[in-house]
Amino acid sequence: MDLKLYDELTPWYRILTPVADYAEEAESYRRAFEGAITGPGRTLLELGCGAGHNAWHLKPYFQCTLTDLAPGMLALSQELNPECEHQLADMRTLRMGRTFDVVLVHDAIAYMTSTDDLRAAMETAFLHLRPGGAAIFAPDAYQDSFEEGCELLEGQEGSRTLKGLEWSWVPDPSRSICMVEYSFLLRDGTTMRAVHDRHEEGLFSRQTWLELLESLGFSPSWAPRPIGDGEFDQILVARRTA
Ligand SMILES: C[S@@+](CC[C@H](N)C(=O)[O-])C[C@H]1O[C@@H](n2cnc3c(N)ncnc32)[C@H](O)[C@@H]1O
Repeated sequence: MDLKLYDELTPWYRILTPVADYAEEAESYRRAFEGAITGPGRTLLELGCGAGHNAWHLKPYFQCTLTDLAPGMLALSQELNPECEHQLADMRTLRMGRTFDVVLVHDAIAYMTSTDDLRAAMETAFLHLRPGGAAIFAPDAYQDSFEEGCELLEGQEGSRTLKGLEWSWVPDPSRSICMVEYSFLLRDGTTMRAVHDRHEEGLFSRQTWLELLESLGFSPSWAPRPIGDGEFDQILVARRTA
């Protein structure tokens, strides 16, 4: 993976997406876990924790183990969540040899761009769950409801200001991918630089999600997630029953 946002731009990450912005959705994940599991809900594994922003809101409720593929992102999470266990790992191949009450796979799941990769990440979640536990998968988009969109990005901290665009589009409707183009203008004092960062992301139908989860032994269902301004999208809550 060669993405500037998770490498050379990590010093700008919290300016782009502040920790406080994750409070409402993290609370919806906590509640969804609470309603889905049987038995205790004390231990949480996150696959693709990024800067650890969801974990920051969830750690009062769970003992969190946080994993990510990008060293710079894992370092941001370690700084924010020093009391949590961290491990550098690919969600497709991680094998910790122990199980958790819940597994969270937030927007990092978007980097699974084939059904083989998506299935591998789901299998990692399944193998790290105890029976009675549940995983949440929270993709940003589904193939059957995708709409091309462009969003303004803004942030400021001290002498640094970020402005940019996030433009999502589909290059070929017969393939299960979308492109997310980030265009950043980064100002530090009087110094300005421009960066373009292209992310190729997976885009799967709701049916594909359900079929893959069921094929691994999960019992999946849909749950609402708040996305601001009183609006909701849908995430997957997948129980491991046996
Ligand atoms: C948008 S960030 C996640 C932010 C996170 N939700 C938070 O709360 O801060 C996406 C993350 O996915 C990670 N990622 C991408 N592919 C991955 C993989 N195969 N295994 C683990 N992490 C991966 C990236 O390194 C990046 O840190």
